[in-house]
Amino acid sequence: MRKKVTVVGAGNVGATLAQRLAERDSADVVLVDVPQTEGMPAGKALDISQAGPIDGYDSRITGAVDYGPTKGSDIVVITAGIPRKPGMSRDDLLNTNAGIVKSVSERIAEASPQTILIIVSNPLDAMCHVALRTTGFPRNRVIGMAGVLDSARFACFLAEELHVSVEEIRPMVLGGHGDTMVPITRYTTCAGVPVTELLEKGRLDAIVQRTRDGGAEIVKLLKTGSAYYAPSAAAARMVDSILMDKNRILPCSVFLEGEYGFKDIFLGVPVKLGAEGAGPVMELRLHEEEKAALAKSAASVQELVAVLKKSGVVSS
Ligand code: NAI
Ligand code: 2OP
Repeated sequence: MRKKVTVVGAGNVGATLAQRLAERDSADVVLVDVPQTEGMPAGKALDISQAGPIDGYDSRITGAVDYGPTKGSDIVVITAGIPRKPGMSRDDLLNTNAGIVKSVSERIAEASPQTILIIVSNPLDAMCHVALRTTGFPRNRVIGMAGVLDSARFACFLAEELHVSVEEIRPMVLGGHGDTMVPITRYTTCAGVPVTELLEKGRLDAIVQRTRDGGAEIVKLLKTGSAYYAPSAAAARMVDSILMDKNRILPCSVFLEGEYGFKDIFLGVPVKLGAEGAGPVMELRLHEEEKAALAKSAASVQELVAVLKKSGVVSS
């Protein structure tokens, strides 16, 4: 039997992810949205199915506004929520998206109690916390998508600067998915050589800053929403590693229990992704200023979670 991947939220990220997954032909896909959207998820699912004979895939794509068809999903990706508009930070989405992620998580835990959850909705690390506490799933089965995207942006800018293929760059970005994310230049390499040896500091600092602002740069250009091509590609890569038990080590937001000196917090770190979800975290040896930057990033995630704890969305 084919594996089943559910994508909740049939908007820009969700529908593009469903298309990417269908094209891989490695699982059936269920695309879910709210009842008010009526036939929208079914229409998008049918459209993606009809590309199958052209592109040569047999994945069954189902659109739904209820959770019946999602039952027994191997993986569920939550992209439900509102995206940013110009001038908004990811944190401005906190209360609205927390309510959405909580209600979706409840439905998913009922329909697919053994599933592995990948969270995409923003603010990412805080939304992972909502999903973990709502479902009661073990920490290996709630994983946030951000680091793969932030690292891809870093790699894209570096490849452009160094005039090399993007495939030569192995990027490393840690921390929360926000302005305080921590691109680690010492562990970012081009053909195995740290980029700190290839670019002068001023140039590298500018690329680091552009990476941190990567999401906002696109919001400013699009004006009506946020990025979705690279985000859906990032989520698809995580799905691949889990479905195929590839054990890729990818930067993902996971619940830390002492790793990097943090507890009771989701933060982006390199982690092994395989059939059981998130495996062991890879702990890099960090310099003092890198540790301080990670602590600053963790503090900004903790601030958001504290708001959710105060309002009762997340239990203490
Ligand atoms: P979008 O507005 O195009 O789609 C969101 C969809 O979610 C809509 O179709 C909406 O009807 C649906 N939705 C809302 N409440 C729902 C519920 N209770 N159940 C099911 N569906 C529901 O937004 P887009 O661009 O797809 O972004 C989705 C989310 O992902 C946003 O919060 C955005 O900030 C976040 N995002 C996160 C990234 C990351 O790196 N973690 C990257 C890109 C986007
Ligand atoms: C991004 O980084 C909006 O979080 C989303 O593009």
